[in-house]
Amino acid sequence: MAPRKIIIDTDPGQDDAVAILLALASPEDVTVLGVTAVAGNVPLPLTQKNARIVCELAGKPDTLVFAGCDAPLKRKLVTAEHVHGKTGLDGPQMADPTMPLQGQHAVDFIINTLRAHDMGSVTLCPLGPLTNIATAFNRAPDIIEKVQEIVLMGGAYFQVGNITPAAEFNIYVDPEAAEIMFKSGVPIVVLPLDVTHQALTTRPRVDAFRAMGTKVGDMVAAWTDFFERFDKEKYGSEGAPLHDPCVIAYLIQPELFTGRHVNVEIETVSELTLGMTVADWWRVTDRPANALFIGNLDAEGFFALLAGRLARL
Ligand code: RIB
Ligand code: CA
Repeated sequence: MAPRKIIIDTDPGQDDAVAILLALASPEDVTVLGVTAVAGNVPLPLTQKNARIVCELAGKPDTLVFAGCDAPLKRKLVTAEHVHGKTGLDGPQMADPTMPLQGQHAVDFIINTLRAHDMGSVTLCPLGPLTNIATAFNRAPDIIEKVQEIVLMGGAYFQVGNITPAAEFNIYVDPEAAEIMFKSGVPIVVLPLDVTHQALTTRPRVDAFRAMGTKVGDMVAAWTDFFERFDKEKYGSEGAPLHDPCVIAYLIQPELFTGRHVNVEIETVSELTLGMTVADWWRVTDRPANALFIGNLDAEGFFALLAGRLARL
């Protein structure tokens, strides 16, 4: 089967970085048409810079990287330096990128790419707030029907919130954007905290990264060492959840995941539950299913895939 054409929309973030590395290490499975940066974990000047750092680390400096929206549709930007550090890629020392940032705005790239490709041939992979995606849909509604699928990291149901008691960060930062996406009618696969919290970087798994003896392996291990301190303290978990790589792993080996087609709606009014993904997991309403909501992961299989692919770089 031909590799799936994807656009990675991202706010690097250590876990975004691992997701980008996994995608760039898997040309037989995915063709990365472009990487579009959005404000999220850290402000846009850093997310677009970090995206380029990661593409160079992967040895793919010809990857097209674009800067997108620097703030949510209607709200003040909320960032997550407390998790990812001031740079967004804290942990190892990273040199500034030398590869260029594309001059075109990320939203224009998303619109032009979907218009230029056949119907249903491009998958969008949001790993951060949905601002770029929603802006593209608002500006060019004709592209919505052309999207093959949206496979995103975001939301939570049984694992509730990580930035508020009710909301997961990517959705919370721009709930109006998330609502536009979930109401768009595009086929959606959600990788929520319910599944990403099963992808924990235990010590043996981090040791396996370090044992690669490559710059990529060392960087991923160093990012994980930094990134996991927050989650270990908060959840008492052994290791950090590798949230965003679950999106790319789903594209490569969907059989590692199981979920349920349910209705997902976004809280955009109540300040108490703003950004909550209200997933009708038990189908207690007659609201139509609009997303495949993933709830389980074969964690050993996930890390075997990840280690095997990263070792290629
Ligand atoms: O809540 C986890 C998500 O928020 C991940 O995508 C992480 O990178 C941050 O963007
Ligand atoms: Ca992210």
